[in-house]
Amino acid sequence: MMLRFSPVQQTLHWLTVGLMFAILPVAWVVMSLKEDTPKFLFMLDIHKALGLTIVALTVVRIAWRLIERPPGHPGSMPPWNRTLSAVVTVGLLIAMVVMPVSGYLWTTGHGYDVDPFGLRFPRIAWKDKAVGDAAAAVHNYAQWAVYSLIGLHLAGVSYHLIVRRDGLLGRMLPPQAL
Ligand code: HEM
Ligand code: HEM
Repeated sequence: MMLRFSPVQQTLHWLTVGLMFAILPVAWVVMSLKEDTPKFLFMLDIHKALGLTIVALTVVRIAWRLIERPPGHPGSMPPWNRTLSAVVTVGLLIAMVVMPVSGYLWTTGHGYDVDPFGLRFPRIAWKDKAVGDAAAAVHNYAQWAVYSLIGLHLAGVSYHLIVRRDGLLGRMLPPQAL
């Protein structure tokens, strides 16, 4: 019988997917707007709110992963495939902590509040320009790691779906009635 991710693991996964596929286009829109205009600030608030939700979910997810281990890989999977899958999984989890934390410190370090839609968060490293600059660099460069990891992840899912046909996608879906 195929081992599946549990309903809790699947819910956390698909919520994250939705949020990640929302936050990236929002970021690209923010970057295309003139800084500090009402539209820019509104879209940036959406970006921050989505990012804070992602990091909260990721912390829950990492904790949950320690409580309920993911199902082992199918026995048919070669070692290189297991290693690559593990590296991409850990990479995605790390990226979903590093991105929000660096975005937060970028904002507060440069003396802007993290207060999406009036919800006020603490002023960590407040007006510490060195921290703000470093965090901005991390946020900007790490986005390329995010795109690469998502690309690799989707390539992996496609490879299993089209080439290996080993039912891997079904592990992240509810049982099918067919
Ligand atoms: C998983 C979470 C996140 C992802 C994937 C993400 C991704 C991005 C991307 C791709 C950009 C555009 C960078 C560029 O092209 O230069 C960006 C910009 C930005 N992000 Fe994030 N971000 C996340 C979370 C956050 C959080 C939580 C905050 C703040 C609390 C934040 C604050 C910012 C700021 C201030 C900008 C620059 C806007 C500007 O001044 O033009 N981000 N983000
Ligand atoms: C930004 C988008 C995505 C992120 C951040 C993400 C993240 C992750 C992570 C961290 C895992 C590992 C779960 C664990 O072992 O605890 C995982 C597994 C998985 N993801 Fe995604 N995912 C994304 C998009 C997608 C999409 C679009 C699909 C399907 C088309 C997908 C299908 C799967 C499947 C099938 C697994 C289980 C792999 C296995 O059986 O070992 N993911 N994903």
